[in-house]
Amino acid sequence: MKADPKTARISSTITREDRKKKWGHHGAVIWFTGLSGSGKSTLALGLESKLQSQGMATCILDGDTLRKGLCADLGFSPKDRKENIRRTGEVAKLFAEAGFIVICALISPYRDDREKVRYSCLQDHISFIEVFVDASLDICEQRDPRGLYARARAGMIVDFTGIDSPYEIPEHPDLHLPTHQYSSLETLEELHHFVQKWIYS
Ligand code: ADX
Repeated sequence: MKADPKTARISSTITREDRKKKWGHHGAVIWFTGLSGSGKSTLALGLESKLQSQGMATCILDGDTLRKGLCADLGFSPKDRKENIRRTGEVAKLFAEAGFIVICALISPYRDDREKVRYSCLQDHISFIEVFVDASLDICEQRDPRGLYARARAGMIVDFTGIDSPYEIPEHPDLHLPTHQYSSLETLEELHHFVQKWIYS
């Protein structure tokens, strides 16, 4: 999608350094990808709570929530998912520019869509990390907290990720969290440790 040449970007008079002085960190985007039920939202909430208690400015952009408003017009075709990721990436950048650590939790099944967000962030000098929340389809299906996998298996939901719609695993995630190998507490600790090191590096 091309920007309209008749519009111009408005730059804030508040600089990134001003914002860093206020919060103690730069804005940044942390992008969780993984199957439905892999634990992305739970980890996002856990991480946000830890960063908030350290006085950081954070916000969460969660796929399920965005699909109730900003992305309510989108379904689950490859084209709609692409648009879902693009919009979320753009919103994440705006918040990151405002100084927030933006925690995004979306299946984001296509490598190319995720890479586009990374590229777009880096082009605007916004740090981006991709976190692969790795739980196998078997495990997600066993958990199935909202019965979505069962409905997809029964053909009541189509284009369901992992069932009849693909999930492209990240080839080089910045952080790989194999959630089945550790407790949820250990996974959150590892994530928090990694993010802190990265924020202050
Ligand atoms: S994404 O693929 O476009 O990144 P997103 O993270 O926004 O997906 O939304 C995924 C959530 O929508 C799932 O957690 C699940 O609750 C719900 N959902 C409903 N239908 C589907 C489907 N066909 N495939 C995957 N998730 C679905």
